[in-house]
Amino acid sequence: MSRIQIAGGIPLKGEVRIQGSKNAALPLMAASVLHQGKTILHNCPDILDVEYMSEILRELGCTVLRRSDTLVIDAANLCRYRITETYATRLRASVILLGSLLGRKGQVEIPYPGGCSIGTRPIDLHIRALEQLGAITETRENRIFLSSKRLSGAEIQFPFPSVGATENGILAAVLAEGDTKLCGCATEPEIGELCAFLRQKGAQIEVDGGNVTIHGRARLQDSEYTLMPDRIVAGTYLCAAAGTRGNVVLRNAVPEHLLAPIEILKKTGALIETGEDWIQIDGTAAEHSVEYMETAPYPGFPTDLQSQLMAVLTEAEGISIIRENVFDSRFQTAEELKKMGAEIRTEHGMAQIAGPAKLQGAEVISRDLRGGAALVIAGLMASGTTVVDGCHLIDRGYVNICRDLKSLGAGIVRS
Ligand code: EPZ
Repeated sequence: MSRIQIAGGIPLKGEVRIQGSKNAALPLMAASVLHQGKTILHNCPDILDVEYMSEILRELGCTVLRRSDTLVIDAANLCRYRITETYATRLRASVILLGSLLGRKGQVEIPYPGGCSIGTRPIDLHIRALEQLGAITETRENRIFLSSKRLSGAEIQFPFPSVGATENGILAAVLAEGDTKLCGCATEPEIGELCAFLRQKGAQIEVDGGNVTIHGRARLQDSEYTLMPDRIVAGTYLCAAAGTRGNVVLRNAVPEHLLAPIEILKKTGALIETGEDWIQIDGTAAEHSVEYMETAPYPGFPTDLQSQLMAVLTEAEGISIIRENVFDSRFQTAEELKKMGAEIRTEHGMAQIAGPAKLQGAEVISRDLRGGAALVIAGLMASGTTVVDGCHLIDRGYVNICRDLKSLGAGIVRS
């Protein structure tokens, strides 16, 4: 497995440009198969998850070409509806193709996406929404098969604002007969991005907070779209700056997407200023603990930044409490942080972090994408050398975390 080696103790300083959003790129790539034509995505991050999704689209009969940060997808010749094990197991987010393949082909078959290291991750809310739109579901040998002669609009209430289920509901409704009203939707910025992308393609969609109305049977057209910046990559680098007591400017960032993390980092003592497309953080005094913080669906504190914040809090003065409300097992990075001297106790979705721990460099293993980024942050903060193993997981979501952090003065190399 690939490894990252970090010589810690250097405060990050300088500017870094934030990449395009992984969690916008994936649903927009899925949406592109609704249309028998071309989609151009600019500012599309060159990361493993996008590569895996590109392979799946090619397997379905699309052409997908990358020219630097631009992806050109042509779905005219899409001819298959079955997603094979190879990629579906590599990319859980391939489940996001259920809605658009059902809309385009009237059927879709996919291996049941397994859980992963952050939780069981069922897809019951996806299936229930698609069935309400007229899909018939069959399960055979751990594969799920959905078919529908004709999808028709419905009023759907999500019991939980699932990002993926919301996206699948929207995608299936675009070509359905009649109007669909989705209530209790996720309101993450990536949902708004998907709706803006689909409107540009010709769909008629209204968004009102957690309610999305889609007027079906849209006639879609070729389109060219520029992806928004990745708010989780931006939040990761804010945490790295706070943890190393550095001073960093993020360019091509959207402060409005990060209000909850900015508020929490200010509680640690970090000074943060923002502009239209930039965020500056002075982490010199980011040494206070956070009495209590919990993750929540947007606009709450994002679960995807929970591990990174935990790393920062290992060196805060005092006791911090983090409650993880979104996934049922997203504290596995704590065990790796404890190898570096962190004092963390986890129980029933709560983590108690006692600091300052005076982290020491160690050999640690990335167990998931965001946990790996958290271990890199801990390595930047620790004294001595840290080696993070399993960095292919980090490559799923970060174009080049070593290049970005090195540009901010970090002592970091890929081995
Ligand atoms: C998206 O995953 C993101 N992935 C995740 O980011 C992110 O952590 C998550 O939303 C929450 O913000 C992409 O956008 C590709 P959910 P998704 O459906 O859609 C439960 C990263 O690091 N649930 O909102 O899978 C589920 O088990 C990744 O970039 C059901 O019970 O998240 C979880 O506990 C990690 N039944 C909770 O809801 C369902 O049918 C949130 O899941 C669906 C979900």
